[in-house]
Amino acid sequence: MRSLAVVTVLLSALACSPSGGSAAPTPAARPPVQDAGAPGIGDRDFPLDGNGGYDVAHYGLKLGYDPGRRFLTGTATVQASAKQALSRFNLDLAGLTVDQVSVDGAKATFDRKGDELTIVPAAPIADGARFTTVITYSGRPQPVKDSSNLGTYGFIPTQDGAFVTCEPNGAKTWFPANDHPADKARFDFEITVPKGLVALANGEMSRPATTSGGKTTYHWRERHPMATYLATMTLGKFELRQGRTPSGIPNLTAADPRFRSALDRLHTNTGKITDYWATVFGPYPFSSTGGVVDDFPAGYALENQTKPMYGGFDPDESIVAHELAHQWFGNSLTIKRWRDLWLNEGFATYAEWLWSEHSGRSTAETIFAGFRARPASDPMWAYPPGKARPGDLFNESVYTRGGMTLHALRKAVGDQVFFKLVKEWATTNRHRHVSTEQFVALAEKRSGKQLDSLFDAWLFQPRRPA
Ligand code: TRP
Ligand code: ZN
Repeated sequence: MRSLAVVTVLLSALACSPSGGSAAPTPAARPPVQDAGAPGIGDRDFPLDGNGGYDVAHYGLKLGYDPGRRFLTGTATVQASAKQALSRFNLDLAGLTVDQVSVDGAKATFDRKGDELTIVPAAPIADGARFTTVITYSGRPQPVKDSSNLGTYGFIPTQDGAFVTCEPNGAKTWFPANDHPADKARFDFEITVPKGLVALANGEMSRPATTSGGKTTYHWRERHPMATYLATMTLGKFELRQGRTPSGIPNLTAADPRFRSALDRLHTNTGKITDYWATVFGPYPFSSTGGVVDDFPAGYALENQTKPMYGGFDPDESIVAHELAHQWFGNSLTIKRWRDLWLNEGFATYAEWLWSEHSGRSTAETIFAGFRARPASDPMWAYPPGKARPGDLFNESVYTRGGMTLHALRKAVGDQVFFKLVKEWATTNRHRHVSTEQFVALAEKRSGKQLDSLFDAWLFQPRRPA
């Protein structure tokens, strides 16, 4: 009874306070809200991304999309555990209309401000408790259009459906999420689209598609932990190829009819490159591999878990090698803060060079030397890749100089130590979170060398390493 009264008081306080409690200090006149989950997960470069106070275990997303009206309907069932007592907590959601929220079956009140959905459960949640939040919502999803350097991402409507690629924080454009890689969860998708269209999500189909009343429903399950930015519900007209890699990993590829001619090559390359990376980086971390070519002219690709998406081009081996390397570096081993992004992009870029070397084209050393020869005035030398900047996250330095860092390490410790180390890194941290400090520590341990100055020069200095 007492706690209910507290909730009522909190609710009225909520009505006039910045929802989700913004990063700014609470004005003295307003009583602080007790046991409120933070509106951000704690990434100082992205203060409102993700949320504090709980950890999501599972997202169950029941989604319907009508490409004609560009209209999405959703019911998200979010299972989480509280990391503190919670009188309220936030999810990230951009646009869309929330119709109803319940927590553990009881109707909850909610408030929206910016991309923060603040939920006040009927009864406070105890520290350590598991709780289930169900959010029903609908509307026309809008992608994020970032004027700095992230471009357009999130739920992107296309002529025949949608191209859904969400790095770094576009999952919130189509489902209520703890939208930051520091909180990985498992996912089930149930996606209903007009008959004749295919909906593609992560993982494997958990049951065969069913059609009735002019609509087809697809069930997908990603049974390994996944960061929200890797989730997808790309849909439209697709031709599918289903099979296995030469070593036996299920392989599902798809192409928009306009890219039908790309499908065979994508399927074969995905199979052989997935298998090759398993020999270099250790066992493939997921239950299937694949890839999707859509006709949305993004010009880029994203490493969506188990199904990288290629936007509007016929992918060559190099980009397939890059996106599949991300299945280990980024997807299985995940960063806790965006600043460490070189652990994803530097590794995936270096993988392109390794693939080139493996295929008998340029060696990694030749590629490295080419970049090393860039003049001291090249902007790459001014941007330290070990500190990816929020306003310029995907700077070329994070990719290229990040990859060069690994080659510099390889030269310093020798091939034998280097490749053993990379495999151990990927294997022991499988499905976990990682940081730059951990990588440096492992490199020093396995090489028996003091590597501070190497990593400092390559990752953290705003100049070309000597
Ligand atoms: N991680 C992608 C790559 O290097 C690039 C990327 C960043 C991206 N943000 C994106 C792709 C958004 C698609 C959508 O492979
Ligand atoms: Zn990449």
